[in-house]
Amino acid sequence: MKKIGIFTSGGDSSGMNACIRAVVRTAIYNGVEVVGINRGYNGLVENDFIELKSHSVANILQKGGTILKSARSKIFYTKEGRKTAYENLTQAGIDGVIAIGGDGTFTGAKIFNEEYNIPFIGIPGTIDNDLYGTDETIGYDTALNTVVDAVDKIRDTASSHNRLFFVEVMGKDAGFIALRSGIGVGAEAVLVPETKTYMDKLIAKLEAGRRKSKTSGIVIVAEGDESGGAFEIAKQVKEKFDFYDIRVSILGHMQRGGKPSVRDRVLASQLGFSAVENLLAGETNKMVGMVNNVVVLTPFEKAIKHNKELNPNLLKLVEVLSI
Ligand code: F6P
Repeated sequence: MKKIGIFTSGGDSSGMNACIRAVVRTAIYNGVEVVGINRGYNGLVENDFIELKSHSVANILQKGGTILKSARSKIFYTKEGRKTAYENLTQAGIDGVIAIGGDGTFTGAKIFNEEYNIPFIGIPGTIDNDLYGTDETIGYDTALNTVVDAVDKIRDTASSHNRLFFVEVMGKDAGFIALRSGIGVGAEAVLVPETKTYMDKLIAKLEAGRRKSKTSGIVIVAEGDESGGAFEIAKQVKEKFDFYDIRVSILGHMQRGGKPSVRDRVLASQLGFSAVENLLAGETNKMVGMVNNVVVLTPFEKAIKHNKELNPNLLKLVEVLSI
């Protein structure tokens, strides 16, 4: 392998830049050239390539976002789009590709690889942490710290006013951010897409808090929860439980930005390094991940199929610690 391509795709996450840096420098260390593909699969189809040297990735380790930009491509999901992408790759002399992204990114890579047999290695980069084959995805830890920081501030004002806050966090299909941040902020309850939301149970919990003279309440709601999100559940609770003054806060895209935590920087560097090593060793169609501090490879198919489950012990922890 003489030349590899790299791109970031899907929702960006903090640590993607640290990962790009690791990929570029590991490849160059091994005598391999690197081409940056801008705007995810869109850049692949539109031939938006740039040469990446060691100095091109200087001073980006600590920055949020992605210097290669990101996109959720529609054109790549067409046969013609993928054909053009293949032609562009061959014309540029790219022998293998590293893709940093999530579920959609690896689904695209799998289809492309089946059609054109270009070696692909994936690196998990998403705040959602919803990929099987890695304990954490790049950006998850930073997003958690952002959420906890924001909710601590909300807690201050909540207790000053005896208020109950419904705080919505990202996770359209997964409750990893909600569950872990919920434990981190001492939430009264956490509502996630993976479990059923029982209104009577939630009200009973809030009522118990009122009897214990709790001065504030925080309920963390994953955006994909079946309740329909924080505004909807807050409306329903208001009708049945009017002890607290109720407010809603949607944290939104701030969760995706900011400088990466140390944990994310190190994970991104390790996975970027391993992705190149594995690509050069002839691996393909797999995602590199970190499980119990060991790098493991997982076929795309297995990584993306919603195989990762929420830890039931953590769900129990929320219930016990919020009495
Ligand atoms: O990348 C995943 C995610 O963070 C989801 O949790 C969220 O629903 C989605 O991105 C929002 O992405 P956008 O608004 O950029 O399409």
